[in-house]
Amino acid sequence: MSQQNYIKDIARFGLENDQDKLLSTLNEFIEHNKSTKKINFALQLQSLLKDSIRKQSNQLMKVGSPTHYQSLQDRETDELILEKLTSDYSLKNLVLTEQAHDQLSNFLEEHQQIELLKKYNLPISNKLLLHGPSGCGKTLASYVIAGELKKMMIVVNLGAIVSSKLGETSKNLAKIFRKAAQEDCIIFIDEFDSLGKVRDYSQDHGEMKRVVNTILQLFDYLPQSSMVIAATNQKEMLDEALLRRFDLSISLELPEKEQIEKLINLVLKEDQFGFDEKVSLTKLIESAKGLSYYSIQKTLINAIKRSLFAMKTVKALKPKIDTQIWKDLLEEEKKALAV
Ligand SMILES: Nc1ncnc2c1ncn2[C@@H]1O[C@H](COP(=O)(O)OP(=O)(O)OP(=O)(O)O)[C@@H](O)[C@H]1O
Ligand SMILES: [Mg+2]
Repeated sequence: MSQQNYIKDIARFGLENDQDKLLSTLNEFIEHNKSTKKINFALQLQSLLKDSIRKQSNQLMKVGSPTHYQSLQDRETDELILEKLTSDYSLKNLVLTEQAHDQLSNFLEEHQQIELLKKYNLPISNKLLLHGPSGCGKTLASYVIAGELKKMMIVVNLGAIVSSKLGETSKNLAKIFRKAAQEDCIIFIDEFDSLGKVRDYSQDHGEMKRVVNTILQLFDYLPQSSMVIAATNQKEMLDEALLRRFDLSISLELPEKEQIEKLINLVLKEDQFGFDEKVSLTKLIESAKGLSYYSIQKTLINAIKRSLFAMKTVKALKPKIDTQIWKDLLEEEKKALAV
């Protein structure tokens, strides 16, 4: 886009008070100026933008892209929200088993086809549980859902929701659900087990039972257009009645051979890097087994960096990753995690 067109767009969105589009056009304009070497101007604009965002004091973070902010007025719920975000993630950022992929795609489709389902009075699945070990994509999957559906997501601040004052936790939960319904947001509750486990908590049994009952009610009366995503790595700790309330429960487990291969390709960014042949890829995949997506990705990225540093000059079009380095890092990681 030309400089003039950017200015026209910025003027239009500013006059129309369309904050969302104004900010994203401004960001694009800044990038445009950086790429056309008007660095000073770009930096001035950037600091102007940051100043104004700081003044608005409340943040809306965009994951998967550098910036996207918006102010929030509702003070009542502010402290109960960890962050409010929009996302640029899509299904292609997430490696899944075929089963999990089908489940997630169908879930997304229900929301993309919401009008059709409404027309025939069909219920819409809107309560999703993501479970599985740490580093296997629960949080990432929630970002993908927000990104694919282009919806805002409220990440609940459990620390603030769970209150020591009797009855306060339930009230806080109700406030968040009300807010999400008003603003048409997705609610993301991480570490859901700390809310939903009742049986183990003999001391504050009464209060926890009350909390579970509140969640049951909130779930039962959740408007069809709202959505709740809960994540846990301790599904077995959840109350039975609560588990039953979820329309869908997706298990995100440690990657098998097929998923490890896909993850490698994702990290290698469309073949930007290649492997040397000191250690065979099959062997490496075998060594990566038992680790989470997170650990595999982290060690591979470190191996890429170290391989790059070890090269005196990066002449090759496609720099080679030293497979022995990666293998060593994988072994170290397994040892550290006692896998
Ligand atoms: N299935 C996956 N596909 C691609 N990348 C993944 C996947 N799972 C994890 N990752 C990578 O690891 C990072 C951490 O994963 P994420 O935060 O989603 O894990 P989690 O399941 O929420 O873990 P925790 O239980 O510790 O919160 C992601 O940001 C991503 O880079
Ligand atoms: Mg997480």
